[in-house]
Amino acid sequence: MDLKVVEHYDEMSEVAANLVAGTIKDKKDAVLGLATGSTPEGMYARMVEMYRRKLIDFSTVTTFNLDEYIGLEPDHPQSYHYYMNRNLFDHVNIDPENISIPYSGSDKGLEETCRKFDERIEQAGGIDLQVLGIGVNGHIGFNEPARHLKAGTHLVELAEETIEANSRFFQSKDEVPRKAITMGMGSIMKAGKVLLMASGINKAEAVRDSLSGLVSTKTPASLLQLHRDIVIVIDREAASLL
Ligand code: GLP
Repeated sequence: MDLKVVEHYDEMSEVAANLVAGTIKDKKDAVLGLATGSTPEGMYARMVEMYRRKLIDFSTVTTFNLDEYIGLEPDHPQSYHYYMNRNLFDHVNIDPENISIPYSGSDKGLEETCRKFDERIEQAGGIDLQVLGIGVNGHIGFNEPARHLKAGTHLVELAEETIEANSRFFQSKDEVPRKAITMGMGSIMKAGKVLLMASGINKAEAVRDSLSGLVSTKTPASLLQLHRDIVIVIDREAASLL
């Protein structure tokens, strides 16, 4: 496990962007697993800047996003489709054919959608680098704390803490969707390399529980301790309980 504790959010974003850029430079047809949320925004901004300065090229890169709310259309400003377009895809030369974000308009008959999403990851040869943020309750993607975690892409009921935490992006808590579709722990753990980012004091407990040496489905990110190639980039506040 490679743990890098940096001073602040900007430095975290810089280190993370350089790692992603390095992956793309090493392997032109790299397959990236991408995350949303406020944590990777600074990293995406730097990746866009590197593209503008012709330091990286996305033309042969393939991406898979971790998750999406159910009930938000792709053009909804709080959907993860919209987030990805605004933060990255609209600004770089990625081929839209090479972008996959899980989507289901409803929570009915999702099995086929989930199966196809996992199949697509397999067909792409798996994920080379999976970028992750972490929820205040230790979730990754939308793999919420539970007795059992699922390996494949699946439907999930969001935890109360997640609805609460994500309500800051919506007008009110009532507007936060209650369900989501998320990549499972299998595709995440099978990624060649994992990059976990966390910033701020509100992530300190989740970070502590994830890196404690214990592995528990109550803290989904703790499974990452079993990954053979994980880089953790966190700022001082997020690291304050370690
Ligand atoms: C969201 C996303 C996660 C993200 C996490 C933290 O619910 N599903 O992929 O890592 O919560 O979000 P933030 O970075 O905004 O704190």
